[in-house]
Amino acid sequence: MTINQPLVAGNWKMHKNIRETREFLHSLIKLLRPPLPCEVAIFPPFTSLPAAAEILTDSGIALGAQNVHWEPTGAFTGEISPLFLVELGCRYCIIGHSERRLLFGETDEICNRKIKAAQSAGLRPILCCGETLEERNAHQTIEILRRQLEKGLKGITSADLDIAYEPVWAIGTGHTATPDQAAEIHNWIHLWLRSRFDDAADHIRVLYGGSVKPENAMALIRQTGVDGLLVGGASLDVNTFSIIVNSFKEGQSVFS
Ligand code: 13P
Repeated sequence: MTINQPLVAGNWKMHKNIRETREFLHSLIKLLRPPLPCEVAIFPPFTSLPAAAEILTDSGIALGAQNVHWEPTGAFTGEISPLFLVELGCRYCIIGHSERRLLFGETDEICNRKIKAAQSAGLRPILCCGETLEERNAHQTIEILRRQLEKGLKGITSADLDIAYEPVWAIGTGHTATPDQAAEIHNWIHLWLRSRFDDAADHIRVLYGGSVKPENAMALIRQTGVDGLLVGGASLDVNTFSIIVNSFKEGQSVFS
């Protein structure tokens, strides 16, 4: 496992059909010559996962899903089992993205069940957390994060997971958290994780997400406690995404 490396993850959301997925990944493999400067993972839509898995075999680039169901099988029309994702070669699964929380009613309790199911199946969940603009302005950021982490990770004993801090006001808006804002929250999350998982917390990365671009990636990853990036819009263009990945060549990682 490569959990001692920072992670750059591309969350494609509902973008890219199978042909576009193939084109992107063939180009990405050419652009990112080994050794990779950090761990890289791509999160395509479910329909593109088989094609992506085939292309990424032996590439060193990991594959993940954007969502998962909390049961391994059953009468859950339209849902995807964590076992099916493992069968496809997925290593990761995003859980509790703010779009799922806000648009699809995903609660902390649902996130918790999904994390347990993902870990049981052998996936490494990435739990997303973050406050809205109203919550930030009302000085509730820490309170919201504490609730999302406490409830989301309730009963979880394995540290085989990562966290993504994605302030909702920064997602798709062009307003990135400043490096100082990110550092403050990431350090708080790391302290919380340490109090919860003891030494095992050293193996949990805290990624930053929200309007990450080549222009701001370096300043963000230079902050203590920022162990990687969860990139949305800027992960859809292969050149832009590779530039972000390659920022790790110069912007040294503080994760060890
Ligand atoms: P953007 O990078 O488009 O702001 O999206 C961030 C995100 O939601 C990644 O999960």
